[in-house]
Amino acid sequence: MKGHQTESVPVVTIDGPSGTGKGTIARIVADRLGWNLLDSGALYRLLALAAQTRSIALDNVSELVKLASGLDVQFMPTKNGETEIFLDGEEVSPSIRTEEAGNNASKVAALGEVRAALVDRQHAFRVRPGLVADGRDMGTVIFPDACLKIYLTASAEERAKRRHKQLKEKGLNVNLLDLSREISERDDRDASRKVAPLKPATDAEIIDTSDIGVDEVVDRVNILLEKYT
Ligand code: DC
Repeated sequence: MKGHQTESVPVVTIDGPSGTGKGTIARIVADRLGWNLLDSGALYRLLALAAQTRSIALDNVSELVKLASGLDVQFMPTKNGETEIFLDGEEVSPSIRTEEAGNNASKVAALGEVRAALVDRQHAFRVRPGLVADGRDMGTVIFPDACLKIYLTASAEERAKRRHKQLKEKGLNVNLLDLSREISERDDRDASRKVAPLKPATDAEIIDTSDIGVDEVVDRVNILLEKYT
């Protein structure tokens, strides 16, 4: 990947399906490098939430495009390393992290015009000294000139188990089989859509996280960073 055409601000992309640990890894890497962080999935989640609040159907392309263009969102890093997310000035972090919000996000994200309306907003995160961006199409579509592209995978079973554990820790009791079905429906939708489907970039480094913990994934990413940045 050395010799890749890179704009002046370097980008590391981390793509992959849900439950592979993209968000966690992206945050750790961004903190270590002191770079900015783009959680692109949050934008689709916020758009779906904004649509619901305004009673806009999740397939109403023209209204969703208008909404996406004027979306009033803010990402505020907190002292404990989390990010508080605001929509129209209101903190909405817990409401966009539900399974329903993820599914709704996946539905609006399947619409090409809606994706197009969010491109500039994502590019705006590319500011000095660098950017770590996580999502589904960061390396393939939004930042094709990234200096390092990572694609995280994990078995569907392991991803469902992880998500189940997270939900349990939040006090939510969800049936593991139902959760597995929902996750695989969402992944199928994300991977089969016509525009910017979930897939590794041809020059991505693939890391299977099924049998390794966060620390080992971070170690592998650090080795790749040495090589590519
Ligand atoms: O990463 P996440 O679970 O927060 O993403 C929620 C949904 O948003 C995901 O199922 C598909 C969509 N998404 C997308 O299409 N492209 C991205 N770059 C990020 C998320």
